[in-house]
Amino acid sequence: MNRVYRVMGGVVLAALLAAPAAAADNKDIIDYRINIMKTLGEQAAAIGKISQGKVDNADNLALHAETIAINVAAAKKAFEAKVVGGTATQAVWDNWGDFITRFTALETAAKDVAAAAKAGGMDAAKPKMLGLFTCKSCHDVYRTK
Ligand code: HEC
Repeated sequence: MNRVYRVMGGVVLAALLAAPAAAADNKDIIDYRINIMKTLGEQAAAIGKISQGKVDNADNLALHAETIAINVAAAKKAFEAKVVGGTATQAVWDNWGDFITRFTALETAAKDVAAAAKAGGMDAAKPKMLGLFTCKSCHDVYRTK
């Protein structure tokens, strides 16, 4: 068993270490930023479960909010490559300043939620959570329907 895992691990590692043959192609660029956005979706859903009291994991709220902030920082970089596709429209790069300002606002809001959760738990964090719900307003402008 152990040996199988070691061999599999070797294959995965080899794939990870394989030198890129050429610059990332457009599909990779789009997939990569979608990987990051999916993480945002999962983390927002996790916060939803906590804030609706469906799970008793309020102690994790700050961690989820920090994960959102970190992933928004990654998203800002991931969208720098101007590749229209996935559901991202040309408007992203035509209105780059506005697009990044929206991401930065979400990043700041997520940091605020994390800080409030650490200081005062759910009661302190709840009023700040409105700042996290900017997803749809950005999607309405910058994604295909
Ligand atoms: C600054 C604008 C902006 C904000 C803010 C934003 N998104 Fe997005 N999001 C996008 C764009 C653009 C895409 C399309 C990416 C692509 O297809 O290349 C996207 C795609 C997605 C996807 C789809 C991934 C897939 O499966 O194709 C999810 C899920 C997602 N965002 C979740 C969120 C959540 C949750 C939030 C809020 C916490 C959020 N987004 C905030 C711009 C934004």
